[in-house]
Amino acid sequence: MTNLSKSATVTDTNEPAFEPSVRYLLRDGELVEYADAKLHVLSTTLKYGVGVFEGFRAYWSDEDQQLYAFRVADHMRRLIDSMRVVEIDGSRDIGVLSEQLLGLVRANELRGNLHMRAQVFVDSSDGKPEDTGPVSVFMAAIPMGNYFGASGLDVQISSWARLSDRSMPPRVKSIANYQNGRLAMLEARRNGYDAALLLTEDGHVAEGAGYNVFMVRQGRLCTPPATDSILEGITRDSVLHLARNVLGVDVDIRPIDRTELYSADEIFVCGSAAEINHVSSVDRTPIGDGTAGELTRQLQHAYRQAVVGRVAADQQWAQPVYPTA
Ligand SMILES: Cc1ncc(COP(=O)(O)O)c(C=O)c1O
Repeated sequence: MTNLSKSATVTDTNEPAFEPSVRYLLRDGELVEYADAKLHVLSTTLKYGVGVFEGFRAYWSDEDQQLYAFRVADHMRRLIDSMRVVEIDGSRDIGVLSEQLLGLVRANELRGNLHMRAQVFVDSSDGKPEDTGPVSVFMAAIPMGNYFGASGLDVQISSWARLSDRSMPPRVKSIANYQNGRLAMLEARRNGYDAALLLTEDGHVAEGAGYNVFMVRQGRLCTPPATDSILEGITRDSVLHLARNVLGVDVDIRPIDRTELYSADEIFVCGSAAEINHVSSVDRTPIGDGTAGELTRQLQHAYRQAVVGRVAADQQWAQPVYPTA
């Protein structure tokens, strides 16, 4: 018979109390203490996975003594697109949402590399799947270093197919979509890989669990089209821009077969959290010599410059969080 009181005591003794690394989160534009940012267990979001979110990064520059938030307005635009597609009510004001997020970072006085989130929940207490509101918007800004433990990823092509626009649109960052990538990651880890790539239902390369993919093959930089079951990544868009306008490299946006990956010269994955990380092998087939290829390294360098405002991009991508002197 299970001794509940004993196991509770053991857990209490062995587990250190959780110490959040920030004081505040934001709920509907108001600062709340970390421990008070809660959602009811019967909310539509928890029962049916109705919700959308965004993940952003901010980068600290020692040289400028400034924190730069990367493409915040573009992420907020995608958050609003996601709300529209999965039919969730709520604010559609990019400027207000962006300023709320930056205000949260300032309130926590964060000066270091960060990951930030905006999450839109359907917070109805009687929780029906077709509810579109009432809506709660939570935001968080938490210190974060590298997403992947490794530089250079051993990748498995998943046996799970990527979601499709005919079932659960991968174009949007819907919470429920992440079960698909989660299963792929668990399978990959179980099989000794670092990451997973998923194919579309008809066998083309789509993307990873939380990152888009590029390859260099026969001298051409290529990435799957937005219609091949991908999230239209903002880092993907930044890479396209940096390749074309900073490095002067053409990019082919076209369907990619699985076996093209096996004979690629370079492959990398990219995402706001994942940044740009090269792929060392696919299904144990080595890619190049296993280290980051020349173009991958040039793009990584350009991206690191862009996130702290050192690349003259068309848009104002890197936004100072603190007032400039
Ligand atoms: C499934 C998926 N694909 C791609 C990406 C990359 O998108 P972004 O560069 O906008 O972060 C993410 C990032 O969250 C993701 O979850």
